[in-house]
Amino acid sequence: MCGIVAYVGHRQAHEVIIKGLKRLEYRGYDSTGIALLNDGLNVYKKKGKVTELEGFIKGQNLNSHIGMGHTRWATHGEPNDENAHPHYSATKNLAIIHNGIIENYAALKQDLLRKGHTFLSETDTEVFIHFIEDIQQNENCTLDEAVRLALTKVVGAYAIVVMSVHQPNLLIAARKGSPLVLGVGRGEFFMASDATPIIEYTNEVVYLNDQEIAIIDNGKLTIKDTSNLPLTPYVQTVDLELEAIEKGGYEHFMLKEIFEQPRSIKDCMRGRLDSASGRLILGGLREYLNKLIQADRIIIVACGTSWHAGLVAEYFFEEFCRIPVEVEYASEFRYRNPIVREGDVVIAISQSGETADTLAAIELAKSKGAIIFGVCNVVGSSIARATHAGAYTHAGPEIGVASTKAFTAQLTVLNMIALIVAQKKGTITEQKFNELLVEMETLPAKVEKVLNLNNQIKKIAEEFKDSRNFLYLGRGYNFPVALEGALKLKEISYIHAEGYPAAEMKHGPIALIDAEMPVAFIATKDSSYEKVVSNIQEVKARKGRVISIVTEGDILIPKMSEFVIEVPPVAEALMPLISVVPLQLLSYHIAVMRGCNVDQPRNLAKSVTVE
Ligand code: G6P
Repeated sequence: MCGIVAYVGHRQAHEVIIKGLKRLEYRGYDSTGIALLNDGLNVYKKKGKVTELEGFIKGQNLNSHIGMGHTRWATHGEPNDENAHPHYSATKNLAIIHNGIIENYAALKQDLLRKGHTFLSETDTEVFIHFIEDIQQNENCTLDEAVRLALTKVVGAYAIVVMSVHQPNLLIAARKGSPLVLGVGRGEFFMASDATPIIEYTNEVVYLNDQEIAIIDNGKLTIKDTSNLPLTPYVQTVDLELEAIEKGGYEHFMLKEIFEQPRSIKDCMRGRLDSASGRLILGGLREYLNKLIQADRIIIVACGTSWHAGLVAEYFFEEFCRIPVEVEYASEFRYRNPIVREGDVVIAISQSGETADTLAAIELAKSKGAIIFGVCNVVGSSIARATHAGAYTHAGPEIGVASTKAFTAQLTVLNMIALIVAQKKGTITEQKFNELLVEMETLPAKVEKVLNLNNQIKKIAEEFKDSRNFLYLGRGYNFPVALEGALKLKEISYIHAEGYPAAEMKHGPIALIDAEMPVAFIATKDSSYEKVVSNIQEVKARKGRVISIVTEGDILIPKMSEFVIEVPPVAEALMPLISVVPLQLLSYHIAVMRGCNVDQPRNLAKSVTVE
């Protein structure tokens, strides 16, 4: 979490930085700050969002060709002006911005306190820059050498940028565990947590790797690693359009992204799946495909919505590939000495490709000898690079904090992977395989049909906007959809919601049901339809308010439901891609009606780069 931007070149640095910070606000938005160099190294920082910082710096001398900025998601120290970044060193000659956590900061701080340092904030970051300066003074070395030496002594994760009052053309950046992209323009350089603040100016980028230090000094970029080995910068062209990261007429990014799903699902399948020729290819799997086909077990690691996509994939892989699947929260997996045997294959799912727990789970599984496949949205992200093979979801940038189009794209990719494996293993008939390819191609149009129900769903939202609790129930493939529906509502509307397997309801949640309780059933026509009908009856008998997502033409469930949303029929295994869409819209409208900031819900961040 936290977003960082830095600039050096011929433009006004503050303009590039403020714009960039706005693009990175999805990474955290509890406080912001900027450092500029003109009549000194000046730091301006403020609790609150970037717009507040903008107001705060108005009237200051902002004229500077070099600078850096930060938007924070608090870890050490509450969100306030003091804890906001950038932080000064003891002499105020240096400043730093940092994304990550320095785990041994307490020990470093003790040493520095003993030496007489005083600190203005409670952050690990301020300790870090004091430490760097202390090294520079003791070793009498260059700033980049001091940064390097400091990095060999800190434990934790970081993406940092350091500036010095004495070197007005110098930016030093480094990363380990937290992302950092360098933009290479004509006579100008950019640094940012992702490429979105950069692409407006250049699409030539260098993704910094872990343990690498980038030094931009007087218009020249050099890279070395923390052991002082010089490296050649690998400049890549990033394929990202500006319009993809703007709202395009929608009121919120989340709504835009929900409505983008027909296109993102199509983009995800483009060039990979063609039912007419029976073609299904994922180039990124090729080298390690046999490992998947021969896998004794698949372990899926992920967090949040991606974990829900993993749960759907469990059903899909087990049904069609006949491979046992375990779906793990990455944060649990990484700390419980899991058994990873030869023959196990790990699939890591992550929209951002930067989630710290998922990355750590990958590293752990790798250390135990596992082959890792990645399903990521962000090209060039840390997870994409840490895995042996994988497939991108190609959903385009997802900016709303609540994940929507990334989820359906993840399901699309995971289904494609499973179908390839099933076909090669011979665990699916040719007929079923072809049928599913045809059905997958119908998904964009079917999602479009659900999106046409937006106004109807808005009316339902009106009814329930003041609810204090919500229950989501589904079975089989629709059970993870129930979890995802509940998560969406919690995240953005702050209404307490729980997702449950419909039949499990009677072991607890049924006690919550009364005339006030909305219960959303994902009750499409599938193999557990009759059972779900009984579950609806059980809720009705206790006066719960039933909202049902049903398959078009259903005549039974509408009779038992206060509200019904009809979705087009599709193969049972593909239904989550359709049935989740009304739930996304329902939470969106409820949140908007409650006056919540749907794109930047409180306490959350899109890219969780701390554990
Ligand atoms: C955060 C986001 C969620 C996301 C989760 C996992 O909590 O707010 O929307 O599902 O992280 O992120 P990832 O990028 O790994 O999919």
